[in-house]
Amino acid sequence: MVEPTARVTVRAPAKINLHLGVGGPRPDGMHPLATVYQAVGLYDDVTVTDAADWSVGLTAPIDGVPLDDDNIAVRAGRALVAHHGVDLAARITIAKGIPVMGGMAGGSADAAATLLALDRLWDLQTSDDDLLAIAATLGSDVPFALVGGTALGTGRGEVVSPIPDSTSVWWVVVLADEGLSTPAVYRHFDELSPDAPAEPPIPRALIDALADGYTEEVGALLVNDLWPAARDLRPDLVDVEEQLRLLTPDGVLLSGSGPTLLMLHDDVEEARSAVTELRERGLRCTIAPGPVAGAHVVTYA
Ligand code: C5P
Repeated sequence: MVEPTARVTVRAPAKINLHLGVGGPRPDGMHPLATVYQAVGLYDDVTVTDAADWSVGLTAPIDGVPLDDDNIAVRAGRALVAHHGVDLAARITIAKGIPVMGGMAGGSADAAATLLALDRLWDLQTSDDDLLAIAATLGSDVPFALVGGTALGTGRGEVVSPIPDSTSVWWVVVLADEGLSTPAVYRHFDELSPDAPAEPPIPRALIDALADGYTEEVGALLVNDLWPAARDLRPDLVDVEEQLRLLTPDGVLLSGSGPTLLMLHDDVEEARSAVTELRERGLRCTIAPGPVAGAHVVTYA
């Protein structure tokens, strides 16, 4: 048996949805999805140490992240110990590199990282299937944060199947100063799309283009059904979107439920010069490669 270690750090990536097909609400209020996830290179690092009680902290203060039992990382820790029927607790420290309330699943990344980190800290040997099942109880995007790479998501997003992706791309990530509430965007989607299907179609053309490594085709096939709702709730995004489309007519996308916007490049130098130009115009942006790995241990100490 591996000796339990005193401290484990796990790094988990942000996600974007290359395709986000949304159906009409289910009886439980959640929306059926046909989505293609991609993990991109913006990360949260979660460090766990054994403690008498549960607690969570950030390495730098950030508005909008709860620091009590409501934090999804603490909920993840509690769910893992409940699954194993053990009486353990931990101090969880999060170094956030993923935009908060940006539609890039930062909270889900923290939950996935916490599950993996605590499993390793306490040598619980949770099976992959059980980790994925616990992850699904915490949020629709949490299983994908464990899996990473590029994957098809169905159900409410929690049923994740990796798919082949031969592309290697650079995303210009344009951050907004204010977040956008995911439930509010879905509610407005319902108002705008009363006839949304019960089962949104699987985006076969995009899946083929990814397998073939046709980046240009991927750019032309990006879809986000939540875009009209997000535009309505945040008209300021429309001007930013127009600016991005002038730089890259194909390959502009809203990330998840927003408000982060994305621009696809297959060349890092092009991506860098787009960032320089957008920063000169006063926009806050960064670059992230995709696809990248899911949650993984980065230190044992
Ligand atoms: O699953 P998760 O906790 O991330 O979802 C947050 C909120 O986003 C839900 O409470 C719901 O309002 C909305 N949502 C949805 N359908 C999905 C995923 C999320 O309606 N498939």
